[in-house]
Amino acid sequence: MKSPSDQSIYVVAICGSLREGSSTHAALQIALSGAKDAGAEVEMLRLSEYELVFQGSVANEADYPRGVFRLREKVKRAHGIILGSPEYHGGFSGVLKSALDLMGFDEFENKVIGLVGVSGGRKGAVNALSMLRTVGTALRAWVVPKDASIPNASQAFDANGNLHDSKLAERVKAVGKQVTELATLQNSVQI
Ligand SMILES: Cc1cc2nc3c(=O)[nH]c(=O)nc-3n(C[C@H](O)[C@H](O)[C@H](O)COP(=O)(O)O)c2cc1C
Repeated sequence: MKSPSDQSIYVVAICGSLREGSSTHAALQIALSGAKDAGAEVEMLRLSEYELVFQGSVANEADYPRGVFRLREKVKRAHGIILGSPEYHGGFSGVLKSALDLMGFDEFENKVIGLVGVSGGRKGAVNALSMLRTVGTALRAWVVPKDASIPNASQAFDANGNLHDSKLAERVKAVGKQVTELATLQNSVQI
């Protein structure tokens, strides 16, 4: 298992789609490459690997599956978190919301968040991104101003997960870069 060194900025991505061949996953890989180029240690967190349950569905928190605690631990250790979601019915995905509802200020307060969204339609993931921005603020995190939205997702990527539109790819990468730069700045200043 990966263990980020004490000095480096650690950026994780949380993917709000469980689908095999997910465009959100592909978009997050690009965002993480931007974070890596900016000097971060990066890791993709696939929600299918954390035995998630719904908040409140188990009477005692201590009885939550171990995966929930592993996910919390990873996010707690991260300096920056990139959230990715498909646009689902004019919002972000339920699986991502369920994951966020299992966490809170311990994992997110004062952290840096970046946002990436994909949509099947041509409008882009505007609602998913706007709602995630609100949720990030409610978690008392710093949501970076530049987010990225990929419309017409089923046609936007090649077979290797690269975006056909190089300008859009730069914008997605910039999300990871901004998250890393702000987290680096934040962690270099002692207040
Ligand atoms: C339940 C559901 C709701 C969706 N709602 C929308 C929508 O409101 N607007 C839109 O443009 N696409 C919508 N889509 C299409 C997805 O945004 C699109 O298929 C996206 O690529 C899925 O992300 P993924 O490839 O990461 O799984 C919806 C898809 C599903 C399964």
